[in-house]
Amino acid sequence: MIQEGRELFLVGCSFCHGQNGEGINSDDGQYGPSLVGVGGAAADFQLTTGRMPMQTPGQQAPSKTPVYSQDEIAALTAYISSLGAGPDVPTAAQYDIDKYGLSADERRQAVVDGGQLFLTNCTACHNFDGSGGAMPWGKYAPSLKSTSKKNLYQAMLTGPQQMPVFSDEVLTSKDKASIIAYLDSIGEEPQHGGFGLGGLGPVSEGMFAWLFGIGGLVGFAYWIAAHSTRSTKTKSSEGTQA
Ligand code: HEC
Ligand code: HEC
Repeated sequence: MIQEGRELFLVGCSFCHGQNGEGINSDDGQYGPSLVGVGGAAADFQLTTGRMPMQTPGQQAPSKTPVYSQDEIAALTAYISSLGAGPDVPTAAQYDIDKYGLSADERRQAVVDGGQLFLTNCTACHNFDGSGGAMPWGKYAPSLKSTSKKNLYQAMLTGPQQMPVFSDEVLTSKDKASIIAYLDSIGEEPQHGGFGLGGLGPVSEGMFAWLFGIGGLVGFAYWIAAHSTRSTKTKSSEGTQA
């Protein structure tokens, strides 16, 4: 499998990451970081979200439809793991809260804790409901609404691009699974009444208040002015003059 992965790597990845994954930083702008020690989790994350192979070196590697099949991804992941020790691809026993053997109460508590952890660690970039947000220099933190549980876990473990790494010392595997369970639970939550406004937070909600709230008040003020005794008087005096 490692051999098969190496062959795929030489064809699809080595011109950016080097013949042995040691990384390239050349004068003509060809660049790919060293993959020694990034671990299987980074490889699986980058390949299953379609981020790698990167098409053009640019600001951000966006997620797209994966280029490789499941088997090829497994082979490439095995090859990159063999380059040096790093975080392995997590199993459901790590990323799925239902595999932790919790009671119904403990599970409910885990979702609440996950919400708190999400609020402190993730909302600054991904927004309070995980819908994503802009970052400096034209970059962005993507929406988390259609990401798989495994990739949520792998993103925390490997910290792609501007995202920090949340190692097991910072967030235990149960903490990570709780965050994932929380995101899952807000995905299920029905929108109660009115427009969701895209869930974009204070900016769009403030805009809504200005346009419709203040706009409505201004309209109402005009209506009062147009129907007051004074305005009717002016009209009738104009009438007599004419
Ligand atoms: C056009 C150049 C290019 C090609 C081709 C490319 N990469 Fe990358 N790769 C990059 C750059 C630049 C980064 C760093 C930026 C980022 O993380 O998005 C990167 C990051 C990565 C990372 C994340 C490393 C980390 O520290 O977490 C992995 C894993 C990876 N590449 C694997 C691959 C594999 C496997 C292939 C082949 C299927 C591949 N890349 C093809 C340029 C490339
Ligand atoms: C400093 C800002 C920042 C923080 C804090 C942050 N992220 Fe990210 N996150 C990013 C950026 C930027 C990307 C996109 C990286 C890329 O495209 O390679 C990203 C990507 C992701 C992805 C990949 C989504 C996809 O498209 O497949 C997941 C999942 C994710 N983050 C989850 C989290 C979670 C959970 C937390 C909290 C524990 C968190 N992030 C905290 C900036 C951040």
